[in-house]
Amino acid sequence: MEMLYEGKAKRVYKTNINDVYIVSYKDDATAFNGIKKGKIKNKGLVNNQMSAILFKALEDKGIENHFIEKLSDGEMLVKAVDIIPLEVIVRNVAAGSLSKRLGLEEGMQLKSTVIEFSYKNDQLGDPLLNDDHIEILEIVSKEELAYIRQKALKINEILQQLFIKKGLRLIDFKMEFGKYKGNIILADEISPDTCRLWDLETNEKMDKDRFRRDLGNVTEAYEEVLNRLKELEE
Ligand code: C5P
Repeated sequence: MEMLYEGKAKRVYKTNINDVYIVSYKDDATAFNGIKKGKIKNKGLVNNQMSAILFKALEDKGIENHFIEKLSDGEMLVKAVDIIPLEVIVRNVAAGSLSKRLGLEEGMQLKSTVIEFSYKNDQLGDPLLNDDHIEILEIVSKEELAYIRQKALKINEILQQLFIKKGLRLIDFKMEFGKYKGNIILADEISPDTCRLWDLETNEKMDKDRFRRDLGNVTEAYEEVLNRLKELEE
């Protein structure tokens, strides 16, 4: 199969079906815009299966997304979207770069949900964008940006509720959207690479911060999150 794209965590292949791609998830892990590199054993398998479960759950709640079906534990069939070069970040609790930038203590519940946008551009180091930047770069129209914001908030609500049932707090997460047959739909992945998830009782970090901050037991945390979510399927 022809490989269309190889990113830091995924490979995308063309198929012989029109408008359908295969995404294969890798164990490679990077952080701090590629400065820290490593591998997380079984990460590809976890991220594929977790994304499949969550995309299905979101579809059931009326959130259109690129997921078609799981092909194997490490691969999924997706709709061939044109990715919009925006990282859409939703935050419920202060952590990571928000804590650093604004001097907020990590773990502080935010008064209201925060949405941020970054420009998906490795050379520029994914800079933060405001609405005016998005306008002058012509990434999406004002109406499309309003639509993305509204979907992002809805997705946050659905995911928060779903994770709470599994004893996990959704601290923050990153989404990517794409255009498919004229519509904007949710794409990319939803995994411990792209979400901060803390155990509801112990506040233990169950996500990529274990890799970023060398906290150990990275694979174990990823697998634990997947195992808790798998109960959704049963
Ligand atoms: O680092 P920061 O605090 O800005 O990250 C916010 C959220 O977005 C985290 O859940 C992080 O895992 C996710 N993120 C991502 N990919 C990036 C940047 C952030 O998945 N390139």
